[in-house]
Amino acid sequence: MPRRSPLITVMANAAYKAAKGLVRDFGEVEQLQVSRKGPADFVSSADHKAEATLVEDLRRSRPKFCFLLEEGGVIEGEDSSNRWIIDPLDGTTNFLHGIPHFAISIGLERDSKMYAGVIYDPLRDELFWAETGIGAFINSKRLRVSSRRNMGDAVIATGMPFKGRASHPEYSEMLDTVSGETSGVRRFGSAALDLAYVAAGRFDGFWEFALSPWDIAAGLVILREAGGLVTEVDGGDQMMKSGDVLASNGVLHNPLRELLAKAADSGK
Ligand code: IPD
Ligand code: CA
Ligand code: CA
Repeated sequence: MPRRSPLITVMANAAYKAAKGLVRDFGEVEQLQVSRKGPADFVSSADHKAEATLVEDLRRSRPKFCFLLEEGGVIEGEDSSNRWIIDPLDGTTNFLHGIPHFAISIGLERDSKMYAGVIYDPLRDELFWAETGIGAFINSKRLRVSSRRNMGDAVIATGMPFKGRASHPEYSEMLDTVSGETSGVRRFGSAALDLAYVAAGRFDGFWEFALSPWDIAAGLVILREAGGLVTEVDGGDQMMKSGDVLASNGVLHNPLRELLAKAADSGK
C-alpha cells in the first residue's frame, strides 16, 4: 500500500467530502426527470455546492494557494506558485440524465506545471491519484497504462463535439477512420475519467478538442505518472492552453496521431 503524502491526503479528503453531496443529489435527479421543471437547475446547484465544499476544505489546509474553478473562475492567493485547478462535476450531462458516470477532478499546478492530481468517481469508489515522481494509483493499487501494441486491438475513447461547442471540421473523418482501424471507439462523457481510464489501461488512447483546463489538469499528471503520453492532437505540448488532447499508452501514440492526421487531411 503506497503511503499517500499529506498533499494527496488533503486532496482526497476534499474529494470524498464533496462527493457525499453529489451522490445524494444524484439519487434525487432520477425523481426530478419526470417533474415539469426538469433537473437542470437542481444539477447546477449540486455542481456549485460541490465546488464550494472543495474550496472550503482545500483552503482550510492550504490557505495561501490560488484557485482556477470551473464555476467560480479565478481566486488569487498569496502563494502564486501553487494553484488548484478544479472541476467539481465532470460528466454533467451524464449526471443530469441519471447516467452513473461522472467524477470530481482536482489538479495542483506548481510553478506552472501540473504537479499532482486526484480524480474521484464516487459511484464506483475509485480514486485515481498521482503525484509527480511518486507514481499513479487507483485507491491503493499502482496504475499502469496498457501494453497493447496493435491498433487493431485497441479501444480508443473520444469526446464528440456537441451543441454549443464549435465543431472541429475534420472530426467525423477522424471518428470514421479510428473506428475502422481499432477494436472500437467509446464516448463515455467525462474527459477526466477518459484520461484516468487510459492511465488505468482500460482505454489505450483518447482524443478530444477544445477541452478546458479543469477537464484535464488532474488527468495529465495521472496519465504521465502511469507511464502514458499526452500531447495535443497535432503533437504540440500546449494542452492546457488549446484544450486539444491526444493521450495514449505511449506505444500507440504516433500510430494514433498519424491516423488522425491522415483522416484530417482527407476531410479537407
Ligand atoms: C465535459 C465532459 C465531456 C467533454 C466536454 C466537457 P462537464 O465536462 O468532460 O466528456 O466532452 O467537453 O465539457 O461539462 O461535464 O464538466
Ligand atoms: Ca468538465
Ligand atoms: Ca463540470
